Amino acid sequence: MQEILDEIVATIGQSDDRGQVANYIPQLACIDPNQFAISVAMADGRVFHAGLSDTLFSIQSISKMFTLTIALGKLGDAVWNKVGREPSGDPFNSIVQLEHENGKPRNPFINAGAIAIADAIMMGHQPKETLAEILNFVRFLAEDDSISIDETVAQSELKTGDRNASLAHFMASFGHINHPVDHVLGTYFHHCSIAMNCQQLAKAGLFLVADGMDPVSKKRVVSSQRARRINSLMLMCGHYDGSGEFAFRVGLPGKSGVGGGILAIAPGKASIAVWSPGLDEVGNSKLGTQALEKLVQQTGWSIFGH
Ligand code: DON
Repeated sequence: MQEILDEIVATIGQSDDRGQVANYIPQLACIDPNQFAISVAMADGRVFHAGLSDTLFSIQSISKMFTLTIALGKLGDAVWNKVGREPSGDPFNSIVQLEHENGKPRNPFINAGAIAIADAIMMGHQPKETLAEILNFVRFLAEDDSISIDETVAQSELKTGDRNASLAHFMASFGHINHPVDHVLGTYFHHCSIAMNCQQLAKAGLFLVADGMDPVSKKRVVSSQRARRINSLMLMCGHYDGSGEFAFRVGLPGKSGVGGGILAIAPGKASIAVWSPGLDEVGNSKLGTQALEKLVQQTGWSIFGH
């Protein structure tokens, strides 16, 4: 495994064709695109890293997997009254479907869906309390209390978040938002601004590798049925309108973020975090996807077989 990762870093990690860093969030626009990291946390407890695997980056939409998991814990199947579970086929920040579907987002991973999930988990609490809960959950999964929110990124999102504010107000007009919109947006922007490195992220995904239980610490996080369902949502919706392409090329449940990170789950095998800030046309890490494609070719880990 170490050889495979070293080779990925030496080849794909050095590519000149790195995509574009997210430019609509000023604080992400100034990240050096010439960075690359990969971590693999295996079900048997071994961990492998290559590249800048201890460099922190903004996890952005990868946080939506954590908030969905919390929401399912708090609301159970009532989550599906708030959001659907179908791929959208539209960009992550699209507003068009919302009008046709009466303000109910297609799935929990597009921005509208994640904003609705943030609202759902607040349950009458202040943004600060909700954020503490989200952060505690991520720290618990990664077994690392140093994980924090990058306040500069959160402020940067807040300042340029007109599109997300539009989505939130539009949903509120259908009666789908129960808390003040600015509180919901504050919660959403801050959880997107959690900073993690690949080592922490791979560890935090391990519960989805082994039917809802961290195979190393033996901590049960969710039921096996719930883990299966979260993985299925990541497979179908985790890369927005690039989800089909990701399933075709990589064949693993995965969640991307505009910070350039991807968390991919090889059920029964490993949790994999990759990071490279340059994005493809639909907002998914360009080299990160290539790295996962290569890793799956070498390991035969695609859920669709060798
Ligand atoms: O709301 C946004 O636009 C960002 N905080 C998150 C978007 C994102 O990561 C989409 N990912 N590919």
